[in-house]
Amino acid sequence: MVVGNSGVVRSAAPGKVILLGEHAVVYGRTALAASIDRHVEVSVAAAASTYLKEAQPTVPLPVLERAAELTGLDPASITASAVADLPAGVGLGSSAALSVALIRALARFAGQSLPDAVVCARAFEIEKIFHGFPSGIDNTVATYGGLIAFRRDHRVKPLASARSIQLVIAFGRAPRETQKTVRGLRERWESSPALYESLFDEIDRLVNEAQNAITTGDLPMLGALMNANHRLLQRLGISTEKLDELVALGRDAGALGAKLTGGGGGGAVICLCDADRERLVGRFTRAGWCAFATDIARRGIDGADNAGRFEQRSLA
Ligand code: PMV
Repeated sequence: MVVGNSGVVRSAAPGKVILLGEHAVVYGRTALAASIDRHVEVSVAAAASTYLKEAQPTVPLPVLERAAELTGLDPASITASAVADLPAGVGLGSSAALSVALIRALARFAGQSLPDAVVCARAFEIEKIFHGFPSGIDNTVATYGGLIAFRRDHRVKPLASARSIQLVIAFGRAPRETQKTVRGLRERWESSPALYESLFDEIDRLVNEAQNAITTGDLPMLGALMNANHRLLQRLGISTEKLDELVALGRDAGALGAKLTGGGGGGAVICLCDADRERLVGRFTRAGWCAFATDIARRGIDGADNAGRFEQRSLA
């Protein structure tokens, strides 16, 4: 955390990918997720300060108000803005990164030192404004960083991967909302609970196998499990033609596995790679998509407050 000369407090938190288990995690199954090296950075200053009244986008008012209330601050007394090298609205956890960075920056502004568990719990409250009834996976990864197995009863298990997990993330810019896909799936589950529960159980089995593949470094197996997870997400009605197209392109270009990540209904896919990620990034961008390469944390829970280390990059 940094307090600048101008009385501005900054904090940054990372985005995330869900390797396997999205949506099923809402129904009590385990998901595997990891922070990525892309961040949202929030700056907080006194409302009277002119420092933040420049070109930076401000934090949405309802979000600032709730976060200020949780911190015991008068929202009218502060101003907050955010910058990011993490694309928003594609399933990479940008709202959770913003929530965590905002909670930490406000706490510091108020002279509070917060344990991570409190940061995570407060960020979860902010996430509800963005997402309705989130599982809590995004704010957990944004708070602690690293590679984790997560369940919605907030049991978090750090995982250590035997080999570096190299990804290419590709996405389009069509607007989509996680809340919508979560709500649509809830309606389908309500009308055929047995069918959907069995699909969630199948995903849970893949997640268990993937934990072994990660800890033993069996990347071809991890890729195959990601492919199988994507097929089950299709059966849940979460994928789209465009996402399937991205997944097919990734596999065709040599990815060990590819699947949608996060809420689906649009948004991003992740491709597991063992070599030449830039070639794969090039394939996506030549086909008109946005794409970037990223490594995920090798070891669980790495401490996610990256303030002072943030370098703004242009969005992919
Ligand atoms: O789209 P994102 O990055 O918010 O990820 C959502 C993950 C879900 O499992 C679909 C929902 C949740 O709250 O866990």
